[in-house]
Amino acid sequence: LPFVIDMILTGYVTIAAIFAVISVSNCANILMVTMGGTKSHKIPFWELARGLIPRGHNITFVSAFPQDFIMDGLEEITPTGLVFYVKNFTNWDLLGARMRGEEPVHPLDMLRYPYEACDILFSDGEMKEFLQSGHAFDLAILDGAFPECALGLIYHFKIPFMYINTVGFYTGSLSTAGNPAPYSVTPFLARPFTDNMNLIERVMNSVWHVSANLMHIVMVRVFLHGVLKKHFGNDIPHPYELSKNVSFILQNAHATITYARPYLPNVAEVACIHCKAPKPLPPV
Ligand SMILES: *[C@@H]1O[C@H](CO)[C@@H](O)[C@H](O)[C@H]1NC(C)=O
Ligand SMILES: *[C@@H]1O[C@H](CO)[C@@H](O)[C@H](O)[C@H]1NC(C)=O
Ligand SMILES: *[C@@H]1O[C@H](CO)[C@@H](O)[C@H](O)[C@H]1NC(C)=O
Repeated sequence: LPFVIDMILTGYVTIAAIFAVISVSNCANILMVTMGGTKSHKIPFWELARGLIPRGHNITFVSAFPQDFIMDGLEEITPTGLVFYVKNFTNWDLLGARMRGEEPVHPLDMLRYPYEACDILFSDGEMKEFLQSGHAFDLAILDGAFPECALGLIYHFKIPFMYINTVGFYTGSLSTAGNPAPYSVTPFLARPFTDNMNLIERVMNSVWHVSANLMHIVMVRVFLHGVLKKHFGNDIPHPYELSKNVSFILQNAHATITYARPYLPNVAEVACIHCKAPKPLPPV
């Protein structure tokens, strides 16, 4: 009998060892990048990291906002040049502008932020060192709100990538990836329209969408692609071409807080992944 028990135990140990080896070899090195100009962009990334690290994955996270806490398995890279650029650029009062009924960010500033921030990121010594360090990654998770600059890293590391679209109302990268965003029912993110618009509102909404798209195209085609060519060589494809290859999109939205939208099967809505279980109110 002891012999039989021994056999069974050895079997279990072998199976457990095989599973352990499989789970270790399933662990990945993941690169996360947000070029967002406000710290709120980091929050959904942290939540993803909190879920991925206990499963054995290592995360390297590039952003413009220095680390707030130490988490085992999470390495944050915050190139100084970018940190100072964003700090100076965002010396603004978003809420005050809203309350005065003004546009919070001047359109010309919106046009210059992406390519200036991108040039500063890839000119930074720490970033150059990182690119030359021989790091290897299995997957990149980029901020879908402004992925075009970080796509340079995809070209450099030659890795599959996905987005977490931190700005739920932004449909630009969803639409580049093939998801329909008809102007007739997709309210422009900076206007108070809903998906139920009359004819005049639909015309206004289309004008906003078309103007924003034109601005984006000029910014990416004329300026940003040039910045990427300067740092990664003339062969780097156009960011829109790179962007079309996105494997999966986590969309920080939900039909109950944005609008019901048609998505391709590689989009998952994850609104509230950062939400914590509510605590009871303190007794009075
Ligand atoms: C994650 O990092 C730890 C510590 O640096 C290392 O021992 C481990 O091999 C890494 N895991 C992967 C999947 O590379
Ligand atoms: C800070 O921002 C202001 C206004 O945008 C700009 O004129 C100035 O050159 C910036 N300073 C630095 C050090 O980047
Ligand atoms: C997109 O992915 C396909 C298939 O892997 C590849 O052949 C193509 O070169 C990629 N396009 C770009 C612009 O990287």
